Amino acid sequence: MAHDLADDREAVRAFFGERAARWDTRFPDDGPAYTAAVAEVGLRPGDTVLDAGCGTGRALPALRKAVGPEGTVLGADLTPEMLAEVVRAGRDGTALLFLADVARLPLPEACLDAVFGAGLVSHLPGPESGLRELARVVRPRGRLALFHPVGRAALAARRGRQLTPDDIRAEPRLRTLLAATGWRLVSFTDEDDRYLALAERQAR
Ligand SMILES: C[S@@+](CC[C@H](N)C(=O)[O-])C[C@H]1O[C@@H](n2cnc3c(N)ncnc32)[C@H](O)[C@@H]1O
Repeated sequence: MAHDLADDREAVRAFFGERAARWDTRFPDDGPAYTAAVAEVGLRPGDTVLDAGCGTGRALPALRKAVGPEGTVLGADLTPEMLAEVVRAGRDGTALLFLADVARLPLPEACLDAVFGAGLVSHLPGPESGLRELARVVRPRGRLALFHPVGRAALAARRGRQLTPDDIRAEPRLRTLLAATGWRLVSFTDEDDRYLALAERQAR
């Protein structure tokens, strides 16, 4: 039977919709980790950046600071309740928000300098199509940052799970996946208190 991506999207919405109102209170001390990760993306004043799967917008203030008032910050999420929390947290002034699947973005080709995706890639129903779509909207040599405030081993332990080699965030798997979708992995960090993979958009 064909895999139904619409069902997957509904499952993602239901999962995160139910958690949205409590999201920021679960890990209230993550702010500095987001700021530090954004600092490594290499954004410049005036740049255009997308927070893909922005959730409650925890990265948005740091992204806005990095691109300055002349830059553009976009925040996209599949879950309406998450976008409502961006507003409730008072972060909506930092970015243009829109409800969208990052695998089908209402954006033209090569319009972005960078994409920041925190806690996103393992939730994408089809990671390959999602990463390919992100490559479509980023200019050649633009950046992709895949971030999590906790490394893979610590996250698995927190959830009472084992690390598995087929985890798409494991370096060999991710490197291959990125190469197949228009990206080149340029740095990879997976420590207890940070996961950060940085990739560059390959020339078309
Ligand atoms: C683990 S949360 C992380 C939220 C936020 N980036 C953060 O770091 O707090 C994952 C977010 O990705 C969103 N998401 C998952 N799949 C998505 C997709 N295909 N398109 C857009 N957003 C998606 C979820 O709705 C959720 O808000």
